Amino acid sequence: MDLPIASHLDPRAVESLLAFWADAGVEASYADDPIDRLAEGAALLRARKEPPAPVAVAPVATPAFGRGPDLGTAVAEAQVLAAACADLPALAAAIAAFDGCPLKTQGARQAVVSRGPADAPLMIIGEAPGADEDLQGAPFVGRAGQLLDRMLKAAGVLDRAFVTNTVFWRPPGNRTPTPQEQAVCAPFLERAIQLVRPKILLLVGGASAKSMLKREEGILSLRGRWFEWTSSDGQTELPALPTLHPAFLLRQPAAKKKAWADMLMLSERLDRPERPN
Ligand code: URA
Repeated sequence: MDLPIASHLDPRAVESLLAFWADAGVEASYADDPIDRLAEGAALLRARKEPPAPVAVAPVATPAFGRGPDLGTAVAEAQVLAAACADLPALAAAIAAFDGCPLKTQGARQAVVSRGPADAPLMIIGEAPGADEDLQGAPFVGRAGQLLDRMLKAAGVLDRAFVTNTVFWRPPGNRTPTPQEQAVCAPFLERAIQLVRPKILLLVGGASAKSMLKREEGILSLRGRWFEWTSSDGQTELPALPTLHPAFLLRQPAAKKKAWADMLMLSERLDRPERPN
């Protein structure tokens, strides 16, 4: 593939190149010189063709979860801390003070917890804070968040939405949060659900839908279908609708039609009168 090259003498070409990379999701540079991953891949393929020399294989250690406690210990600690929170401000403070999620020490500026009414009937769960959220300390406030808000507003549900994420710290380079990082944040997220008591969950993006519903399918197959989210103690069940991530919609505007269909399903169910028990 020919990559675009801008002359350093032409500021407009440089600006256009930076915009090209930003649109492709590249927003930080970690080295002065580019690394040709295609060449690396070719070298690997060549090496694979050569017969491997016999080597003594040492047992491979499971990669450590982080520098702190192991995953089980961190989850158990999160459960105890989350259970002790009587309201959302206490929960936000407990999350900010919690050291068990490795994302906290991987460049995040602050914990990003939630925005929206504390008694909202709709809870929106995204994947992870990005750069703008990390700066401002609130979820979905960047370009993707603004698009999400426009869709929620058009569907008439924006002011009834409590917004949060599966993890509370920005993953480095905006990578997808790992299932382990999501698992250690899950007790806090679940406590938020208990405290807000929404009627419906909107799961935004594949990483949110897969983690909340414990499913393996991709978001294109999950979206637009109602699922039942069940709390870890099995006591609470809520209707949950996976939908496309607004960052994906910014890159693939043709998919907005599907997202809009999801918004209509959502607002219809939110407005549906509850049947008496
Ligand atoms: N993407 C998400 O999934 N969550 C945010 O808060 C921002 C962008």
